[in-house]
Amino acid sequence: MSYSKNKGLEIKGVTVEYPGGQCALGHIDLCLPEHSIYTVIGPSGCGKSTLLRSIAGLICSYTGDILFNGLSLREQGTALIGLVPQNYGLLPWKTVQSNIRMAMKISDSGRQTKQQQEQQIINWLAAMGIAELAQRYPLSLSGGQQQRVALARAFAILPEIMLLDEPFSALDAITREEIQTLFLENWISHPTTALFVTHDVEEAILLGEKIVIMSSNKEESPVIMDNPVFHITHEDKRDSDEFFQQSKRIRKVMQEKW
Ligand SMILES: Nc1ncnc2c1ncn2[C@@H]1O[C@H](COP(=O)(O)OP(=O)(O)OP(=O)(O)O)[C@@H](O)[C@H]1O
Ligand SMILES: [Mg+2]
Repeated sequence: MSYSKNKGLEIKGVTVEYPGGQCALGHIDLCLPEHSIYTVIGPSGCGKSTLLRSIAGLICSYTGDILFNGLSLREQGTALIGLVPQNYGLLPWKTVQSNIRMAMKISDSGRQTKQQQEQQIINWLAAMGIAELAQRYPLSLSGGQQQRVALARAFAILPEIMLLDEPFSALDAITREEIQTLFLENWISHPTTALFVTHDVEEAILLGEKIVIMSSNKEESPVIMDNPVFHITHEDKRDSDEFFQQSKRIRKVMQEKW
């Protein structure tokens, strides 16, 4: 990959409390070099979605700092962020095509002509294998199809940071494997700085350059694990000895931290 890895995304001592003082996210320090992809796993309620929502600017009341290439993300417009939320975040009254078009309009700021945008929409829907769904409304789609639309939309805006909150959770095992491959291929050709939350240990190993393992105890810092499996050819990953060893290492940490 010919991209330089700048400072990227820096999460410095971030904690989140909801009104009433309930701690939603303990103290997090994490650095994600530009154009890298880290996966995040952790028990339900440990604050994974809260972390993504804070980076995306949907929660502003966090303490600490979140920077991208040295600039605070608290300032509007510091970086273009694509979020695939846990519930897909599609507008039900807009067609699939219009959902993507709208996100592009908001984020594009005149970089592409209308015609180029329309072509991009077609390309991304095709890349996700859902070209025929362009005119449909989200509520007429299966959960898995909605997840693909949300992914197409996130890629289509060519974000500098991509945040994915369990984007493949509604997919059956076979479709999930297909779309993991598709996602990785697209990410390799458009390598944004990405944080990918998943419940699935296997998925965390298949997709992350590093794996962030959060703890149920919010006082404890996450464990950040190198992942030698990432650099193996994708179709060989599952059968590799490294994969097996990595699963064992992660399960050991989970037994201690969850
Ligand atoms: N709007 C809210 N008001 C108060 N507490 C909240 C709110 N949203 C989330 N929380 C709490 O913050 C904590 C972290 O929630 P979060 O959704 O980030 O967890 P998560 O790790 O994403 O869980 P899951 O794996 O189930 O998606 C939980 O204890 C949750 O109950
Ligand atoms: Mg969540």
